[in-house]
Amino acid sequence: MSSGLIEAHGGTLVNRVVSESDAAKLKAEASSLPSIDLSMKQSCDLEMIGIGAFSPLTGFMGEADFKSVCDSMKLASGDVWPIPILLSVDKAKAPKVGERVALYAKAPSTGERLLQGIITVKEVFAHDKKREIPNVFRTEDAAHPGAKQVMDEGDVCVAGPVDVIQPCVDPDGPEAFLDHRKTPAQTREIFKKRGWKTVAAFQTRNPIHRAHEYLCKCAQEIADGLLIHPLVGETKPGDIPAGTRMECYSVLIDKYFVPDRTALTVMPAAMRYAGPREAVLHAIIRKNYGCTHFIVGRDHAGVGDYYGTYDAQNIFDELDMGNLKILPLKFEHSAWCKECGGMTSAKTCPHGGEHKIFLSGTKVREMLAKGEKPPMEFSRPEVAEKLFGWAKG
Ligand code: ADX
Repeated sequence: MSSGLIEAHGGTLVNRVVSESDAAKLKAEASSLPSIDLSMKQSCDLEMIGIGAFSPLTGFMGEADFKSVCDSMKLASGDVWPIPILLSVDKAKAPKVGERVALYAKAPSTGERLLQGIITVKEVFAHDKKREIPNVFRTEDAAHPGAKQVMDEGDVCVAGPVDVIQPCVDPDGPEAFLDHRKTPAQTREIFKKRGWKTVAAFQTRNPIHRAHEYLCKCAQEIADGLLIHPLVGETKPGDIPAGTRMECYSVLIDKYFVPDRTALTVMPAAMRYAGPREAVLHAIIRKNYGCTHFIVGRDHAGVGDYYGTYDAQNIFDELDMGNLKILPLKFEHSAWCKECGGMTSAKTCPHGGEHKIFLSGTKVREMLAKGEKPPMEFSRPEVAEKLFGWAKG
């Protein structure tokens, strides 16, 4: 490994984004090709494949990978991989093997239809949702947002390598965050320049609160650097918009983090809310971005009561880690303790729950709606101010 950084998953960092001159040729070719309109999740996946964040994937998965991922959390090659990355479409719209198909996506801010890439079709196979849903989500409940999304997807999957023409389909939109939208190759460059040999990644889809900050700072005691890496791809209705979250991360970092040891960039994947399996996917993605450690706290990537508090940590022990290499940093449920006067967990604090300040996301949204700011033991005042501004509209 010449760069000294952790290797990409599978050994090679993929890049499927074409050069500007090739893009011009592909755009001309696309005008005479059959087309598929991507869902937002598929468009996020296409960007992730293109920039190498899903290395070693070079395209949407074929049937052998799909089955192996569902049944044993591995690609057919043996590399650990927990969640299928599929291009499913309605049977009536399925292209033929050997065809090239133009992939279009809608820019969320304008609704404009943009050519995002081209797939060379190697396989078309039945979308076996009975295999995917219970394995990936550990439930078949249609109330689970990730499971429901798969239920609503097409019945056949189109597989093959992709060429990506435009990774970010909404570059002028308010959620492009172009200053922070760094590819894995770019974050690796940043780490190299800063001389970071070990980097802890923090995945988040929520505004940053004191427990998040505590996890990040504990990780900073261990690693050379910290990458705060919010997910800004598709999330479910009700989650706080990425623009507001980015403002929260920025004000917090500016005042409370050491600049030389902290980086903030965005991660354009779609949330699946698949708890334990998604924690493994989140770790693989961060390994591709060059991180050596990955923070996994309570109910990581969970939703409702579908997963146990530490299921997303235990999966790393149950799994034959094979070539995973990135190390999970497991954290207990943390909260402010009034007796201790600081952030604690059951590992560090002897006081009972009655001394702790626990607030759910729902509770915080209720407080904001009533015009109340969350207390400083839960949320830094600068962050509370941003959330308050968002809630007031
Ligand atoms: S997630 O979907 O990205 O997991 P969230 O942004 O809330 O949601 O969490 C980011 C990370 O912080 C996850 O690893 C999660 O497990 C962890 N986390 C959130 N709240 C706490 C808490 N109170 N104590 C410990 N870990 C937490």
